[in-house]
Amino acid sequence: MRVLQWEDLDRLLVFINNVVGEKKSDSRSPLYTGFDQKVSREEEAQWLAETLASIERGDVINVLAQVRNRIIANGEVTKGTHRDTFRHGRLGLTLLAKYRGLGVGRRMIEILVKESRRAGLKNLEVEFLAGNVAARRTYERQGFKEAAIIPKKVSRIRKYFDGLIMSREL
Ligand SMILES: CC(C)(COP(=O)(O)OP(=O)(O)OC[C@H]1O[C@@H](n2cnc3c(N)ncnc32)[C@H](O)[C@@H]1OP(=O)(O)O)[C@@H](O)C(=O)NCCC(=O)NCCS
Repeated sequence: MRVLQWEDLDRLLVFINNVVGEKKSDSRSPLYTGFDQKVSREEEAQWLAETLASIERGDVINVLAQVRNRIIANGEVTKGTHRDTFRHGRLGLTLLAKYRGLGVGRRMIEILVKESRRAGLKNLEVEFLAGNVAARRTYERQGFKEAAIIPKKVSRIRKYFDGLIMSREL
């Protein structure tokens, strides 16, 4: 596990497009909002350049997981952008389906929590589908508590799903 770097561009492109493919092919995918369209190399390069600049400024804390030459997960905490929210972070984490349930997510959240605390953050929030049992369990085990349900936040093929926000103090 390590922080992403510019040399990861092609590995990240494969990773993100695998995630998009997984969501497209599985109507019951636990993946949350986004990941709806394949990403071009130019788009990924732009995202990576912006993310590296944000990490450099200290606005984003990142960790990714790699197995051999393959990126299997990417996680980050984005700090609040306002003067009165800059000690708050939003966490996001995506793991390829094949590697779920092996303890990778737990370890990545531990790292993000530790690095967020080190960066002076005071609380974190994370949001996902309320029916995502694995995510709820994983975050509960890391000290997160349910903060809010957003009824029918997500609409997919004429069905609505609730969003769940969990948070924890650091
Ligand atoms: C949610 C997610 C980050 C968890 O990471 P993971 O590596 O699969 O989870 P881990 O193997 O580290 O397990 C963490 C805990 O959750 C539990 N868990 C994992 N999968 C589970 C499942 N399908 N059902 C119930 N519990 C589950 C584990 O038993 C473990 O609990 P324990 O410590 O009590 O044993 C990962 O599965 C993922 O990215 N899923 C798809 C995207 C997603 O859901 N994103 C929302 C979060 S931002």
